[in-house]
Amino acid sequence: MRILLLTALAVVFAASLGGAAHAQSADATIAARKAGMDLLAAASGAMKRTIDAKTDVKPLKGTADAIAAWALAVPGLFPAGSDKGATKASADAFSDPAGMAKASGAMHAAALKLSSAADANDAPAFAAAYAELGAACGGCHRTYRQR
Ligand code: HEC
Repeated sequence: MRILLLTALAVVFAASLGGAAHAQSADATIAARKAGMDLLAAASGAMKRTIDAKTDVKPLKGTADAIAAWALAVPGLFPAGSDKGATKASADAFSDPAGMAKASGAMHAAALKLSSAADANDAPAFAAAYAELGAACGGCHRTYRQR
């Protein structure tokens, strides 16, 4: 009887530990994707300032490459269970992984264009790709982020 009780307690304890670990990792995932989005906004702001200042876009190649890499990572940052908590991701971000991948793909394509325009120090091409990047942000947010 005593052993049975201890076993039952151990099972309940293990289950609650598992639950806590799960909630914790969902919170960490939410914090990581939001921080990544904030860095993305900062990177995009730096691009905009360079375009407006009409200075060399060449130094922004690394930033563009980082955005391209981030775009590939984004769809994996919305695992089941990370839909609850301090998140503004819409239900569609979890139920429509193909749509999320497509929206991230648009950001990836724009970032690759930014990268080659920066490499060539081609300011007009960079500005055109920047407009495409902005459209990719908005295109995804319209469906996959709550207002
Ligand atoms: C593939 C979809 C997608 C793309 C592309 C995308 N975002 Fe987001 N973004 C989201 C989602 C979903 C959220 C909400 C995340 C959450 O709250 O868990 C978000 C949140 C944000 C936030 C708020 C972060 C916070 O701290 O709450 C900012 C800022 C942001 N995005 C900027 C950008 C910028 C700038 C771009 C383009 C350069 C961009 N995003 C491209 C899906 C996207």
